[in-house]
Amino acid sequence: MDLVRLIYTSTITEQFEVEDIARILKVARVKNKALNVTGLLSFNRQFFLQCLEGTRQEVNQIYHKIATDPRHKKPEIISYEVISYKEFDSWNMGYLQNTASLRELFYQHTKSINFDPYNMNGERALALLMDIRDEIKRAETQ
Ligand SMILES: Cc1cc2nc3c(=O)[nH]c(=O)nc-3n(C[C@H](O)[C@H](O)[C@H](O)COP(=O)(O)O)c2cc1C
Repeated sequence: MDLVRLIYTSTITEQFEVEDIARILKVARVKNKALNVTGLLSFNRQFFLQCLEGTRQEVNQIYHKIATDPRHKKPEIISYEVISYKEFDSWNMGYLQNTASLRELFYQHTKSINFDPYNMNGERALALLMDIRDEIKRAETQ
C-alpha cells in the first residue's frame, strides 16, 4: 500500500479557542497512533499548516475527518504525494509552541511578518515543516 504525505492549510473559525490546540493534539496523538499516521501541526494565530503521513487509506480517512472540524474552515490541500519514506515519523502529531524561533522560521520562509500559508506551494510548505521538525528535535535534546 502506498505511503503518502498530505499537507493542507486552514483558517481558524470563531469557535476556535487557544485551548483547542492542546485538545486537538491529545486526540490526534491517540487516533493517529492507532492508524500508524505521523505528522506535524503548525499554528500561527490565524492559520493551521499540517502534514499527515501514512498509508493512503489512513491519511485520507483522517484528513476527511479533520476537514469537517468546526474549529477551522477553508481547508486547502497544498500537496499530496506518494512518498518512499516518512519525514515526520518521530511523532504521531508533533507541535512547536509559538515561540520566537517558530516566528523566525515563518519569517525566513515567507519573507513576511504576515504568514499566509495559502500562498505557499508544496515544496515551500514542506521545507518550512521540515525546519519546524528540526527545531522541535533541537529543543527536545536541550
Ligand atoms: C487543525 C486540526 C488538526 C487536527 N488534526 C487531527 C489529527 O491529526 N488526527 C485526528 O485524529 N484528529 C485531528 N483533529 C481533530 C479531528 O477533527 C476530530 O475532532 C478528532 O479526530 C475526534 O473525532 P471524533 O470525536 O469523531 O472521534 C484535528 C482538528 C483540527 C481543527
